[in-house]
Order: sequence, then structure tokens, then C-alpha cells
Amino acid sequence: MKGILLHGGKGTRLKPITYTEVKQLLPVAGKPISQYCLEDMIAIGIKEINIVLGNVGAADVQQHYGDGKKWGISISYTHQAEPLGIAHAVGLTEDFVGDDPFVVYLGDNLVHGGIGKLADGFISGKCDAFVALTRVRTPEKYGVAEIDGGKLLRLVEKPKNPKSNLALAGIYFLRPSVFDVIRQLKPSGRGELEITEALQMLLEKGMNVGWAEITGWWKDTGTAADILDANRLVLDGIGREISDGVNNEQNIIGRVKMGTNVSIDADTMIKGPCYVGEGTRVSKSFIGPNTSIGSNCVLDGVEIEDSIVMDNCSISGEGRVNIHESLIGTGCTVETRNGVRKGTKLIVGRDSRISF
Ligand code: DAU
Repeated sequence: MKGILLHGGKGTRLKPITYTEVKQLLPVAGKPISQYCLEDMIAIGIKEINIVLGNVGAADVQQHYGDGKKWGISISYTHQAEPLGIAHAVGLTEDFVGDDPFVVYLGDNLVHGGIGKLADGFISGKCDAFVALTRVRTPEKYGVAEIDGGKLLRLVEKPKNPKSNLALAGIYFLRPSVFDVIRQLKPSGRGELEITEALQMLLEKGMNVGWAEITGWWKDTGTAADILDANRLVLDGIGREISDGVNNEQNIIGRVKMGTNVSIDADTMIKGPCYVGEGTRVSKSFIGPNTSIGSNCVLDGVEIEDSIVMDNCSISGEGRVNIHESLIGTGCTVETRNGVRKGTKLIVGRDSRISF
């Protein structure tokens, strides 16, 4: 089986972050979201993955994933010049797929526990296609499945009146037969070639489209709140991994994962679940639950909780700045000189400078 990892799209709901960052590369517990997808595919034995790049940050994606040797697999790339839809992106990979079955993984989706059971269902059911479904509270925002007596009857993209709360999670097992159907698609109301419509056409042709419900958590990281949620969910599953030689280890409480060369002073407390990347220096600070701090950051006089700080940031507060539910892009500087600041919430893109 081959793998397709989608890295295009618009990222509209994540502005301003996505003016400067590729949304699928945003770090959750120190790792880009799409790397969890890639590793899920590798875990089911996939050795050839094609990444579909969009027109934002393609070079960053290629720099991160390279030729795949780092993961012991082969990675190739396809460019999608415009975000014309998931099915459009998949259609561009026909030559890469050749005659093999393949899985398409949306690079902004995270699923707990991997995709092994889904792959088993696809293979053992000898299905033409196989979809992952998950129960959601707002089905009108997703592709929705109608099931009767265990049989998949219909798939509709973002229906106004959803017939169920079973949404399509962004993991699709397919065979090359889907390419003929993609060629027949017309742009939807939102101007995209919809993978949901392609699957519906397979159903209408009487093809065997299997499904399974995801049992663990699933997260579509479309908004900043979703990314912070994903961060909480992933951190919830980590163990304690403290790097060798870290000073003041007694101030690190619970499940904290730490890179190498992190320095913590005696006036700092870190309370898990948390991630702190390599080379980061923390002084006079409290890093509280559900927080991921990137590599080579400097935090001085900061209280921070439920947040993601990307690499190379500097945050300092003379009166102890209090930050929560924030998403702070790579290379940002945040400083406060005016005493204690309670409840500061920042959603800021790369290289921002904030002084207050
Ligand atoms: O997250 C699950 C949902 O994903 C499904 O329930 C829907 O049926 C499916 O259409 C999709 O809906 P979204 O509206 O959330 O799709 P979005 O535009 O966010 O794109 C999903 C991923 O696919 C994202 O990683 C970007 C990538 N993409 C998207 C488009 C439109 C591309 O690579 N190229 C594209 O042209």
C-alpha cells in the first residue's frame, strides 16, 4: 500500500498563524501535526509516501520531510498550484499511485491509536474504498455518513440537515479505480472537487465502500482552539522523560517530556503534562499543564498554561506575565514591563514583537 499526505489547502480559519506558518507543520507536543499522520502510515508498513504541497510554505515542508530517509521510507512530492479540493489533490497523485491500493491522510487530522484497524478493515473486506467515521457534535461542518443496518448508504459533504452525527474523519483508503470517478467530478458549492462526492459516486456505482468508527479521540485541527485541544490530548498520553543533567529536577512535577540541554533555575516550576524542547532556558517561571514550549526559547518571569510556544521565542515579564490558551509562532518576542499581567491570550504568527 502507498500513502498520500495532504499538505495543501487554505488554512483560512487559522489566520494570522497561517500567513507565516504551514498549518500542518504546527507543533503539537513538539512534533508537527502531519508527522503524526506520516508515522501512522509508516506504522502500518507503508514505505512510499507522496506529500501534496500547496502554494504556502512548500519549501518548509520539503525541508522537514526531505526524501524520507530519516524515517526509513521514500518520500516524494506533488505540487497542487491551487487549493481546488481534496479530490483534486488526490487526482494529481495518479502516476505515483500506479496500480497499488493507497491511503489518503489529511495532514491536519490527528487520530488516537493509529490507523491499523482501519487498514485491516479495508484489506479483509476486500473493499474498493474504506472510510473512517467519528461521532461529532456539529456534523454540518463535515462530510456526513448515512448508515443503515451497518451498511453505508450515502455520504454528503457539509449537509444543512445532517442525517447522522457520524462525520468522515480525514483518512480514506482507496484503490486506483477512484481516479476515473475523480475525473467526472464537478466543483461543489464551495468551488472544490470533493472527495466525499467521489466516494458517493463509488457507492452509486455499487462499489464496496467499507467503514469503521474511530474509537479513540480524533481531532481536525482547523482552528487555533482545535490545535490547543490537540496539544492537550497528545500531552495527556505522554510519560515523564527528563533529559540527563537538567538542574533543579525537583521542580519538574509529573509527566514532562524534555529535550536535551534544557536549563531550569531554582525559581521555576514545571507542572505536567508539558513538553519543553531542546536548548530552552527557563527562569523565574511557572510552566503549567497542557503546554508545549519549542526548542531554543528563553522564558523569564512567565506564567504559562494551556499554550503552544514555537521554537526560538523569547518571553519575559518583569512582573511575571501570565499567558494562557495562546499560540505563539516561531521567533516571537513578548515582553512586559508593567507589572503583573493576568490572562494574556495571544494568537500570533512568526517573528511578531509584542511589548506591553
Ligand atoms: O477533517 C475532516 C473533514 O475534512 C471531512 O469531514 C470533510 O468531509 C472533508 O471535506 C474535509 O473538510 P474540511 O473543510 O475540513 O477540509 P479542509 O479544506 O480543511 O482540508 C482538509 C485537508 O486537506 C487540509 O490538510 C488541507 C488539505 N487540502 C485541502 C484542499 C481543499 C489540500 O491539500 N488541497 C486542497 O485543495
